[in-house]
Amino acid sequence: MKPKVYITRKLNDRVVKKIEEACEVKMWEEEEVEIPREILMKEAQEVDGLLCMLTENIDDELLSCTRNLKVVSNMAVGYNNIDITAAKNRGITVTNTPGVLTETTADLTFTLLMATARRIVESSDYLRKGKWETWSPMQLTGQDIHGATLGIIGMGRIGEAVIKRAKGFDMNIIYHNRNRKYDIEEELGVVYAGLDELLRDSDFACVLTPYTSETHHLISEREFSLMKETSVLINTARGGIVDEEALYHALKKKEIWAAGLDVFEQEPLPLDHPLLALPNVVTLPHIGSASIQTRLKMADLAAENLLRAVTKQTPEHVVV
Ligand code: DGY
Repeated sequence: MKPKVYITRKLNDRVVKKIEEACEVKMWEEEEVEIPREILMKEAQEVDGLLCMLTENIDDELLSCTRNLKVVSNMAVGYNNIDITAAKNRGITVTNTPGVLTETTADLTFTLLMATARRIVESSDYLRKGKWETWSPMQLTGQDIHGATLGIIGMGRIGEAVIKRAKGFDMNIIYHNRNRKYDIEEELGVVYAGLDELLRDSDFACVLTPYTSETHHLISEREFSLMKETSVLINTARGGIVDEEALYHALKKKEIWAAGLDVFEQEPLPLDHPLLALPNVVTLPHIGSASIQTRLKMADLAAENLLRAVTKQTPEHVVV
């Protein structure tokens, strides 16, 4: 008998066909609509494998309803949507998709940094709304990127890839990480800093750390108060790492100059969210890894991890 698997979002036909060669597959057929919790709870009960998105909350309640589940294959590198301890206690393997999205997410991080520094969205709106009446000396002036100090908070694969881009802009680079990475310091010529020091010295502070109970609201009121009035915060990791209420007040009080955000504490971001009323915030709908090529690679890798686990082989990327 083939193993049974459930896919929580409509995926590319080629990827689904590959899974079907070895498994009995059911799939939530919507691309833009999340699977309702009660349907996921029901579908998860009998399957051997789940291939899910970062939008699904794979918690203890859900895992406790499953009878045969062997693997949760998350189509994302981040896995804060999954209760890892509950999965481990039940002997359920959890996999993720690192590596394939590194460069694409670094591209987007740098794009967002540049768009925020140079007020790209605001400037485009300015033109389209008919406000452009003349050229003037300080009109829509932003912050220089070249020669500025970039602070990377969380030095993983994506941090390294962002640094390579920043080097092309002659930026000075400092980083903060739980563990110092001497090899990277030597290879990329970057300097380690404590978090407070990094926040004080950075012109651009870039949040790239995983979201855990330890990094929840890592950047909050006190941290904003350390930053320069001209500094820019970029977050392409997870919304919960930054205290959004504190960020709103820091921007409003001009404690910092601007923010570029691809991720939010609540996603989708409600349209009445106070941050959307501020001109000095660039907001994107969690598109860090969203290139066609990368999303297909992520789907392939998630499928491969799933297939390996349900056929009793060791997946390439095991979280637990
Ligand atoms: C991830 O993989 O964790 C990103 O946030 C989505 O690509």
